[in-house]
Amino acid sequence: MTTNERRTTKAVIPAAGMGTRFLPATKATPKEMLPVVDRPAIQYVVEEAVQAGLDDVLMITGRSKRALEDHFDRNAELEASLQAQGKDELLRQVQASNDLGTIHYVRQGDPRGLGHAVLCAAEHVGDNPFAVLLGDDLIDPRDPVLPRMLDVQARHGGSVVLLLEVPADQVHLYGCAAVEPTDEEDVVRVTGLVEKPAVDEAPSNLALIGRYALDPAVFEVLRHTPLGRGNEIQLTDALQTLATTDGEGHGVRGVVFRGRRYDTGDRLDYLKTIVKLASERGDLGPDFRAWLREYVAGDDDRSS
Ligand code: G1P
Repeated sequence: MTTNERRTTKAVIPAAGMGTRFLPATKATPKEMLPVVDRPAIQYVVEEAVQAGLDDVLMITGRSKRALEDHFDRNAELEASLQAQGKDELLRQVQASNDLGTIHYVRQGDPRGLGHAVLCAAEHVGDNPFAVLLGDDLIDPRDPVLPRMLDVQARHGGSVVLLLEVPADQVHLYGCAAVEPTDEEDVVRVTGLVEKPAVDEAPSNLALIGRYALDPAVFEVLRHTPLGRGNEIQLTDALQTLATTDGEGHGVRGVVFRGRRYDTGDRLDYLKTIVKLASERGDLGPDFRAWLREYVAGDDDRSS
């Protein structure tokens, strides 16, 4: 592994999923556009990338391309109308969503898994390290971790994954890592990875959550990665190859995350995310919390 002196400037965001868990809401709307309080989920992810200095964002889209493009583009008519009505704060919010770096789009066509989605970024990314951010994992903006991952990658080279300790009975929902400690408390060396293992086959309870700082060597590996779990090309399988074989740009480290992360890909967790984030907001929080307290206090009456 050589120290990586190339600066990471590009972020890749796969956004071609079918959103089946949210049907029928996602029949005509991409799941990435579902609101988390008052911003679509995808906007949090783009903001996270931009705040980490990655202002060249490539979205891997499917049939849902149009709504995503429109969201991050200017809406001159809407802006003029808000301005005419003196709604300055709303105008500022609307403009903020189209002032987020440069966003490019490439279509995945026939979606064949996360590994395949990442491979669709090969031409745009070229021979540079890059980040991948998955829209279903929302990292609390107050606990930014991408800069730490990019820092570890810049110092050690290779690829860096983000790991979260999860209860053993949840490991089967994630990619799972076998690790060894390093002399940095929050950094581990990844010695193996397995996608969604059964609980008794999991090498640890450290789950991959959707942030990756990848070496471009991953593309060549992905081209030769056979179909894996779910008959899809798995990014986890390509990382397993990078972790366990020698070669330029190979080697995988993990940053262990201890901050707040929300899952917006699951209906129940999505609802919890909205309640948490709304409760903590300066504007909505006080009224919402007061209402919520009353609502929960009346819970017994409602269920009887
Ligand atoms: C994907 C990855 C998995 C990872 C997860 C994080 O799975 O394949 O390794 O743990 O994202 O959210 P998905 O949830 O898309 O099935």
